[in-house]
Amino acid sequence: MYQKIKGTYDLLPNDTKKWQSLEKTIRSVSKIYNYEEIRTPIFENTELFHRSVGEETDIVSKETYDFIDRGKRHITLRPEGTAPVARSYIENKLYADKLPVKKLYYMGPMFRYERPQKGRYRQFAQFGAEAFGSTSPLLDAEIISYAVSVIKALKIKDVEVHVNSIGDQESKVMYKEALIAYLEKDVQTLCSDCQKRFETNPLRILDCKVDKDTELLKNAPKPLDYLNEESKTHFNKLLAYLDAMEIKYVIDRNLVRGLDYYTHTVFEVNANLETLGAQNTICGGGRYNHLVSSLGGPDIPGVGFAFGLERLMFALESVNFKGTPDYLHLYLMILGEEQKEDGIRLLNRCRIGGLFSDIDFLDKNLKAQFKLADNMNARFIAIYGANEKAKGEINVKDKDTGKEITIKSSQLYNHIITELMNPNHSCETCEEDSCDDCE
Ligand code: HAM
Repeated sequence: MYQKIKGTYDLLPNDTKKWQSLEKTIRSVSKIYNYEEIRTPIFENTELFHRSVGEETDIVSKETYDFIDRGKRHITLRPEGTAPVARSYIENKLYADKLPVKKLYYMGPMFRYERPQKGRYRQFAQFGAEAFGSTSPLLDAEIISYAVSVIKALKIKDVEVHVNSIGDQESKVMYKEALIAYLEKDVQTLCSDCQKRFETNPLRILDCKVDKDTELLKNAPKPLDYLNEESKTHFNKLLAYLDAMEIKYVIDRNLVRGLDYYTHTVFEVNANLETLGAQNTICGGGRYNHLVSSLGGPDIPGVGFAFGLERLMFALESVNFKGTPDYLHLYLMILGEEQKEDGIRLLNRCRIGGLFSDIDFLDKNLKAQFKLADNMNARFIAIYGANEKAKGEINVKDKDTGKEITIKSSQLYNHIITELMNPNHSCETCEEDSCDDCE
C-alpha cells in the first residue's frame, strides 16, 4: 500500500470544508483592504530563490526541493511566495499598471524540507500579501493591519504582534559589523548552528532558539541601536500609525527574520494557544526595498506578510471554528425505476436554477433515504413516486418549518425558491434571519 510522503497530509472532506470557510474569510478581508489575487507557478528557476531569499538562509541552504528537469533546467518547488510574486510583478510589468501601488495576495502550497512536527510540514499552505510601489511606513502599517484584521475576522484571540526594524542597507551593514565585533571572541560558546551563522548570516544568531537566553546574546547589540536617521524615522512613523489604528504590538528587539531580502520593518504574529504546540508563529512579514531591483526589475520597494494556513487551522480549533455548515437545498427521492427519467428532469431543472440538490444512487428504501437526506442536512425533501408521477405532482417537506405539501411537479423549483426567499424564515443552523450561507 502506498503512503503519503513524510511531512505531507491529506485534507479529507470534513477538513476541506473548514479550509474553504477559512479561505472565504481571507478573501473577504482581502477585498476590504483592496488586495487582488495573484497565482504564480508552484515551481520556479532555482536561481530566483538564491538571489532573493538568500544563499545562506536556512530555507535556501537546507530546505529547498530542487530538481533538474528533462531540459536540464534547475528547478525549485517554491519554498515561499514573495520571490515568485516579485518575479511575476517584474516579468508582467505590473509596475506600469494604472495603480501605482500594486496590492496582491495569494494562497497556495509551499515546500520546505524541514523536520516535520505539528504545525511544520514539508508541503504547507500560505496565505500571503505583497504590496509594491511605496516606501511609506503607512503601507507597512496597512500590511500589519490587514494581517491583524484576518486574525480578528477569524475570532482568534491571544495573539501578539512583534515588530522590529533592521533598518535600511546602510544600517544593516553598520549593525552587522557591530555584532561581529561583539561576538568574535566568544563565538565558540554558541551552538554549532550559530557558529556557522557567524560566518554566513550573523544576523540570524540574534533569534537563535538555542542561544537566545544566554548572557552573551542578551547583551548583544540590537539592530534598533544601529538605525540611521532615515530608518529611525521610518520605524517611529510606523509605530505612530499602528497606534492610530489601535493595533497592539510589542517591540521585539531580537526579531530579525530568516530571509535576506528584508529592510526596515520586520514583524511576526504569535498566537499563545495550546492547539498550536511549539510552532506558534502564525504570520511573518516585513519590508523589502531592494528585492525587485535585485531580481532585475526597477527600483521599486515592497512590503508583505505570509500566514501558515495549517497553523491558522490549529489556532481555529481553540475558538471552536466549525466552518460553514454543510447543507443541501433539496434532497429528491425518486421512487421506482419508471420515475427516474422524469425525476432527473426535475432534479436537473433545480440544479440549473442553482439549488444545491442531490439524490440516491443505490436504490435505497424510503427509510434509508430519509436518513441520507438528514445526513446531507437537506432543508427540502421531495418525494416523487408512481402516484405523484401519475398525477403530475410532487410531495415536498420543509424540514425547517415542518410544512408538507403536494404541488404540481413543474412547480418544484419555483416553490423551493419562493420558500428560500421568505424573509421570515430564521435559519436554524446559524440562528440568523435570511443568512447568506443558508439562503
Ligand atoms: P516565513 O516566516 O518563512 O516568511 O513563513 C511565513 C509563515 O509560514 C510562518 O510564520 C509559518 O506560519 C508558515 N510556515 C513556514 N514554514 C512552514 C512549515 N514548514 N510548515 C507550516 N507552516 C510554515 C515567508 O515565507 C515570507 N515570504 C513572508 C513575507 C511575505 N515577507 C514579506 N512578504
